[in-house]
Amino acid sequence: MKTMKQILGVLLGAGLMVGATAAMAAGDTKIHLDSPNINMTDRNSLQRGAKTFVNYCLSCHSASYMRYEHMSRDLGIDPDVVKKNMLFAGDKIGDLMKASMSAKDAAKFFGAPPPDLSTITRVKSVDYVYSFLKSFYPDPTTPTGWNNTVFEKTAMPHVLFPLQGEQKVSAKAETEGDKPHLVYEHLGGGSQSPEEFEGTVRDLVNFLVYLGEPAKLYRYKIGFWVMVFLGFLLVITWFLKKEYWRDVH
Ligand code: HEC
Repeated sequence: MKTMKQILGVLLGAGLMVGATAAMAAGDTKIHLDSPNINMTDRNSLQRGAKTFVNYCLSCHSASYMRYEHMSRDLGIDPDVVKKNMLFAGDKIGDLMKASMSAKDAAKFFGAPPPDLSTITRVKSVDYVYSFLKSFYPDPTTPTGWNNTVFEKTAMPHVLFPLQGEQKVSAKAETEGDKPHLVYEHLGGGSQSPEEFEGTVRDLVNFLVYLGEPAKLYRYKIGFWVMVFLGFLLVITWFLKKEYWRDVH
């Protein structure tokens, strides 16, 4: 009986540990995270996200499971546009989306390696990545001059600064659940309004979700035709039923 209890105790403990690790990996934070409300069937949004990703992220981060060619096909981006505007010098359209800076060099420069972004929305959660990208603020005490309310003292600089500009935490609004929902005051300096910037980050996160699971796009397409087929079958079955019952009445 005692051993049974011990075994149960160990199992329960292990379960709790796995649960806790999963919660941390999912990007557990002290503050409330926003949800981007993305739509993977919105091709224009995915295309805009891809552009932002290539222009602002690919210098440090790779997406090493994705080839430019594959992306171009999936998102309907003209291969010539990809070749002209999205490839680094020397890269070919059949190449994987590799960062221009090696992870080792980047780790040396920034003090932490920029993670591969292929599966980041699954590793950290969609809401985490969305909130993280919106939450940089100036901080003269850090090496980069930036800090982040979602990931304190992150080694990543605020690379979207030219778009968002600067902001500061203005007040702690009511808590949502048990976590404070921070409110920011926009200080200007970027080319986009706060609303436009939210749209830019939403598109970018949409693209990152696609990177994490490109097959999802096909499943949506297949799902549509499966529904059409089932609808068709329903009509035929209904006529068949009518035909059978005609002789009974
Ligand atoms: C100048 C180099 C650089 C650029 C450009 C850059 N990052 Fe980063 N990024 C980093 C570094 C360094 C880290 C590691 C931060 C750490 O561990 O403190 C990081 C970490 C991250 C993380 C993980 C955060 C976490 O909680 O572990 C995400 C998500 C991310 N970057 C997204 C992006 C996106 C999206 C872009 C493009 C808009 C981008 N990064 C552009 C350097 C960069």
